[in-house]
Amino acid sequence: MQETIDKYTREINEFAKTTAEELESFRIKFLGTKGIIKDLFEQFKTVGPEEKRTFGKVLNQFKQLAETKYNELKESLGGAEEGAKSEGDLTLPGEGFAIGSRHPLSLVRNEIIDIFKRLGFVVAEGPEIEDDWHNFSALNFPEEHPARDMQDTFFIKKNSGKDDIALRTHTSSVQVRMMENGKPPFRAIMPGRVYRNEAISARAHCFFHQVEGLYIDENVSFADLKQTLYHFVQELYGEGTKVRFRPSYFPFTEPSAEMDVSCTICKGSGCNMCKYTGWVEILGCGMVDPNVLENCNIDSKKYTGFAFGMGIERITNLKYVIRDLRLFSENDVRFLEQFQTEII
Ligand code: DAH
Repeated sequence: MQETIDKYTREINEFAKTTAEELESFRIKFLGTKGIIKDLFEQFKTVGPEEKRTFGKVLNQFKQLAETKYNELKESLGGAEEGAKSEGDLTLPGEGFAIGSRHPLSLVRNEIIDIFKRLGFVVAEGPEIEDDWHNFSALNFPEEHPARDMQDTFFIKKNSGKDDIALRTHTSSVQVRMMENGKPPFRAIMPGRVYRNEAISARAHCFFHQVEGLYIDENVSFADLKQTLYHFVQELYGEGTKVRFRPSYFPFTEPSAEMDVSCTICKGSGCNMCKYTGWVEILGCGMVDPNVLENCNIDSKKYTGFAFGMGIERITNLKYVIRDLRLFSENDVRFLEQFQTEII
């Protein structure tokens, strides 16, 4: 028995680098249910008590040697095999990666721009940090007039009024820049970000986005204003969307109006988006006040025109049924990725 064990011990010690199949044969030969070790233990039962003491120890050591060898080789083989698999197997599926998507506000802004471009409007932009003149005074907001409180302003520099510097509260400031720097006719839309000192909630934010519109030429009338905006709404929300104009007040337009559209969610029958009125307001508009034209060195006897301003968030909310303004700026991928299919 000692001889057999010595012989196999040598064999095990010499057994080194191997393939998976060879290792499996090794296991069956030594550790299998009909293997050598099992056999030796059977023989062990038959030896006398004296020999049992010596052989018991030797046999256990031999069994341990075989097991350790097997485990070591299995481990080295396993690691190597896995490495080879991931580097070498070109048929494995590739790893997917998320593609970006356009922000819903950009999608809607681009759509608004497209509609007005087809009507011959150009796109213009102005600065987000504005002086008092462009944000208020040129637009006919008299100094110390309560109309300035219509919009809670973030001031960067606040002195006498005239030299104030602020984050623009609306894109109407770009109208002034456009008229000051050019000659009529003007036909432009002006998208951009605006700021107001408001507590952030589902319905209000300290920054949001507007698109301003301006059309100045000879003989422009309120009928032109109505037809332009009516056409815009049919393009944006679909044929048959109703519009209505309500008289309103803005310092820079006279007369002024707010325009409502029939609720795009319930089609006018009443839902909580339209507060059960069937209508939702989407923009302010009016005929540009002659004072504003004169402030920008435009002859108000010769030229007339209309202007309008809309909030992109509001229009997006109606289009995609989004009820919380904060979603637009939180960058939650679960929200943003829902607009993935619309990449252009
Ligand atoms: N500037 C206005 C606001 O922030 C919106 C507006 C109303 C713009 C009437 C206009 C207009 O050009 O004619 O609420």
